[in-house]
Amino acid sequence: MSNQFDTKQHTLYQESVDFYEAHSEGYDADRWTTPAGRYLNEVQIRVVSELVNTAPGKTHLDIATGTGRFAVDLAQRGANVTALDSSQGMLAETNKRAAAFNVTKKLKARLGYANDMGFKNQFDTCTCINALCHIPDQSGVMQSAAQALKANGVLVTSYTNWASFYLPAGLYVNMKGKSIRGDVYTKWFSFGESRKLHTNSGFEILEIHGVLHIPTRIRNGVFLAALQVLDRLCRKSVFRYFAPQIYVRARKVTAV
Ligand SMILES: C[S@@+](CC[C@H](N)C(=O)[O-])C[C@H]1O[C@@H](n2cnc3c(N)ncnc32)[C@H](O)[C@@H]1O
Repeated sequence: MSNQFDTKQHTLYQESVDFYEAHSEGYDADRWTTPAGRYLNEVQIRVVSELVNTAPGKTHLDIATGTGRFAVDLAQRGANVTALDSSQGMLAETNKRAAAFNVTKKLKARLGYANDMGFKNQFDTCTCINALCHIPDQSGVMQSAAQALKANGVLVTSYTNWASFYLPAGLYVNMKGKSIRGDVYTKWFSFGESRKLHTNSGFEILEIHGVLHIPTRIRNGVFLAALQVLDRLCRKSVFRYFAPQIYVRARKVTAV
């Protein structure tokens, strides 16, 4: 846990933990079943798999795994995955997904807190996707991830970027301190803040990819197709710096 963790943050932190516990059932159905949701789910899994680039036998830790979307995909690619989350309900969904994809032997679900995981030099790779924005102690999460990784281990995180095509949404969320969709702590970052989180925890940024977050309720086919074109442009071109979601691949360079 980082030193700057005060009482107000602690309340927000607990609210976030409780929010996801309450929303674990139906989490996937609520997000990934519309045409836009299916597209976004596929894009996120593909981007994470490209950036993690795991191999059979490698050890992987998925922090704040949720329903295990990334954990199960990486287990299918041969990694031995530990999927950590603070929500029992989310981990139950992860276990169901692992069983459905026949990877129960490759995946261990573990109840725990992202900023105080207690792992030491154990993992080759680590992910924390769509979660830093909902956990008030971001420094604590980054430090805990750095401790969990072996020397030169790779961390892939995603963060919400306020200086993006969705600038008004980013400013609104940061002003309220809550998500647009739900009553849960949410923060959008600047690229500078993300960089600082990495360097302060001993990481060197290697690569970034942008993803255009597409509101999953969009049903207009023409509008969705236009957003998909913009999303593809966000991946690696200069547009990535203006994407509302930025995926960062970083290497642990300093022992912590
Ligand atoms: C928006 S969901 C993302 C889940 C998953 N990574 C994905 O993208 O599908 C955020 C997840 O963070 C988990 N979470 C919230 N606070 C946490 C904490 N302090 N420690 C561990 N997990 C936490 C929630 O239970 C939830 O599963």
